[in-house]
Amino acid sequence: MSEAPRGQVVRVKRRHAPLVVIEIDGEQVEAFAGESVLVAVLAHRPALRHLEFSGEPRAGFCLMGACQDCWVEIEGVGGARACTTPVSAGLRVSTGWPRFG
Ligand code: FES
Repeated sequence: MSEAPRGQVVRVKRRHAPLVVIEIDGEQVEAFAGESVLVAVLAHRPALRHLEFSGEPRAGFCLMGACQDCWVEIEGVGGARACTTPVSAGLRVSTGWPRFG
């Protein structure tokens, strides 16, 4: 993780967890095992998704599994809240449409 951060979240302290590779909308990125999918996404880009109607960028709201603003699809799992889903190696995440068949 030597490149400059380009996301909305900047990790200020290195986690004592293994770095793993996950896929976010087809892009291979590094994330720390056990951190939330929301943190992994926002560490790499400025928004989680865009509203279907207005195109407004969204990045979750409550960050604790209550507001439903962070739904993504995890391959093999289906819909999941990004803020309460932990990262594991090989995880494939889709934040928009079309999603996994
Ligand atoms: S940000 Fe509210 S449920 Fe995930």
